[in-house]
Amino acid sequence: MSDVLKAMEQRCSTRGYTAEELTKEELDALIRAGLQAPTATNRQEIHITVVKGGNPILAEIEELKNKQRGIVDPQHNFYYEAPTVLLLSAEKAFAWSPVDAGIAVENIALAAEGLGLGSLIIGCIKDALTGDRREYFAKALDFPEGYEFVIAIAAGHKAVEKEPHAYSAEKNVSFI
Ligand SMILES: Cc1cc2nc3c(=O)[nH]c(=O)nc-3n(C[C@H](O)[C@H](O)[C@H](O)COP(=O)(O)O)c2cc1C
Repeated sequence: MSDVLKAMEQRCSTRGYTAEELTKEELDALIRAGLQAPTATNRQEIHITVVKGGNPILAEIEELKNKQRGIVDPQHNFYYEAPTVLLLSAEKAFAWSPVDAGIAVENIALAAEGLGLGSLIIGCIKDALTGDRREYFAKALDFPEGYEFVIAIAAGHKAVEKEPHAYSAEKNVSFI
């Protein structure tokens, strides 16, 4: 089986990481995978903000997300103590931005899998980053002007194992 097919088959959401940092080569490979993703009309509008796991901005996002969701005693933070979180923002006015960011984030997830790393795609912070405090967070996270958060991905070394999800081709596919 090709390496790409193997990575797709084996990738799963990792919700537990060791403290081991990513090497520069690993991080560069994840960034490259994101930027190599196709974009509509080759607009290349996806911006990646790389944040280290201990950065206080992540705790601020977590706090607002929990407040919005009425979570009082969280069992874990949204990035499960991963050493690195990549936040993808894109042009708010460009209709294809969410699709482009989705393709980019999956490229990053597959690259992580290919490198033997774990990853977790993260959408639960969207309301926190696009709500009343969006301008504060956009500045703190260095989003370009006119950009908005779309999706994030945590990456690091797996501390837990999980099986990829099951699916039903009978339910989800039609041949006509
Ligand atoms: C757009 C998107 C947003 C997601 N947001 C979260 C999230 O905020 N927190 C989380 O734990 N998992 C999140 N996930 C992971 C899904 O829950 C996961 O992909 C799904 O349960 C299937 O499991 P698998 O990735 O292990 O195959 C997200 C996935 C996608 C595609």
